[in-house]
Amino acid sequence: MTTKARVARPPIELPEGNPAERFGNPVPAEGDGGVFSQSWFPVCLSEELKPGDLHGVPFLDGKAIVYRGSDGVARVMSAYCPHLGADLSIGRVVGNEVECRFHRWRYDTAGRCAATAIGDDPPPRARLFKFPSQERYGIVWAFNGDAPLFDLPDFEHPDTELLVRSYRFDEPFECDPWIFAANTPDMQHFKVVHGIRFDDEDPHKLVDWQDWGFRYGFRADHQDGTPIQWTVGIRGTSIFWQEGLYGETWLGGLVGFAMLEPGRHRVFAALAIRDAGPEAGALHDELFAGAEHLMHRTINEDREILNTIHYRPGTLTRGDTTLGRYLEFLRGFPRAHPAGPFLR
Ligand code: FES
Ligand SMILES: [Fe+2]
Repeated sequence: MTTKARVARPPIELPEGNPAERFGNPVPAEGDGGVFSQSWFPVCLSEELKPGDLHGVPFLDGKAIVYRGSDGVARVMSAYCPHLGADLSIGRVVGNEVECRFHRWRYDTAGRCAATAIGDDPPPRARLFKFPSQERYGIVWAFNGDAPLFDLPDFEHPDTELLVRSYRFDEPFECDPWIFAANTPDMQHFKVVHGIRFDDEDPHKLVDWQDWGFRYGFRADHQDGTPIQWTVGIRGTSIFWQEGLYGETWLGGLVGFAMLEPGRHRVFAALAIRDAGPEAGALHDELFAGAEHLMHRTINEDREILNTIHYRPGTLTRGDTTLGRYLEFLRGFPRAHPAGPFLR
């Protein structure tokens, strides 16, 4: 994997009294100062992790492992064995523990060394970093921190009434996750990039700001004339979700941006439809096919812009009111990297 060159950017100088001055303040890039935003990041698809499976995944500028024990629980830990540094992703799962390929030390569900193969006492400091993790929407998620600061968003319908399919886009995006997230408060981009025509004025006044993100609803016509009545939102720096009517049909979509390394992320997505019962297989397939088409088209409309942008909020206008507020939210967002020393 090549690393995108990162150049320290000098502060943007603006003439005194310029009304855009307050936006001339860049958002910290992921990895700046050795820290990353404390958000939930997708790690792998649930369907790729059968009991006994163990995979290595790039995460937070290092490497983590994700495995599923015989108890069915997916766990995310740092990848390198504290003994001599062997990569645990080439080891194996034994019950609910991970065994290192090199000298066969075993790590328990808390990440502590439970046993050494030759019977020496496990050194107390021999432990992995265990990420807070959860499995939802067909995706395994890990939180960058010792404990989660918030939870994933819920759809307006309970999970038991929904059918969900999940996806991973293999080709990484060449920007930080928050840059993709910043498209949701960017109402101008909805219009010009995605061909959405709001029924009323731009919905800045309808934005509901919460401790860990925001959401807002609007009615609009999509580029092909389909009426939409959507609620869209962002949680943290790495989760987008939307739900509501597309034409006559309720659709939900949730996208998570996996933090691979500074300046690079990978997109995971889950699509949700209402469960119309066991006889409705053909209808379900048709709804998922339509939703997938919409998802691919929308992400592809954004892709090249995101892969080439040097994000630089220098001159925002009134149309960028909500975007400006999200950028301010990002500037104050908690950042840390407690797993840092464990991941390399
Ligand atoms: S390096 Fe893992 S047990 Fe020795
Ligand atoms: Fe977009």
